[in-house]
Amino acid sequence: MNTEISLKLIKASLKSRVNSYAPYSGIHVGAALLCSNGKIYKGSNIECASFSLTICAERAAFSKAITEGELNFEAIAISSNQEDYIFPCGACRQFMIEFAEDLTVVLVKSEKEYKTFNIKKLLPNNFSIKQKK
Ligand code: THU
Repeated sequence: MNTEISLKLIKASLKSRVNSYAPYSGIHVGAALLCSNGKIYKGSNIECASFSLTICAERAAFSKAITEGELNFEAIAISSNQEDYIFPCGACRQFMIEFAEDLTVVLVKSEKEYKTFNIKKLLPNNFSIKQKK
């Protein structure tokens, strides 16, 4: 991923926090998912009074993309309104690796402050029922 694209992705993740619906936790999360064809899908967290129904920003972004027919993903940028980096929850790690075994995960504090991980590092020895090559 070149610098121009990563900056675009980071900006999109920061922007998508605006549509977060998080009246219960006050934690507003934004995600921006980069497809191999260059398209970016934004997502934000959606909370519910029945708390366990909450949808994380990452899964919102993946759901949007997949339901539009996308299946090849390069990277996801994740940001929030919190001071520190926000790491994807366990459920999102499992969900993301289902669709992107080599996904680059960019954790974003600001346009200039971010760090990058591979999904395999965030979820080593992941559960899978797919045949390993
Ligand atoms: N949240 C995300 O959107 N992504 C994560 O990976 C971690 C948690 C949201 C869910 C909930 O709305 C709020 O952060 C607090 O848990």
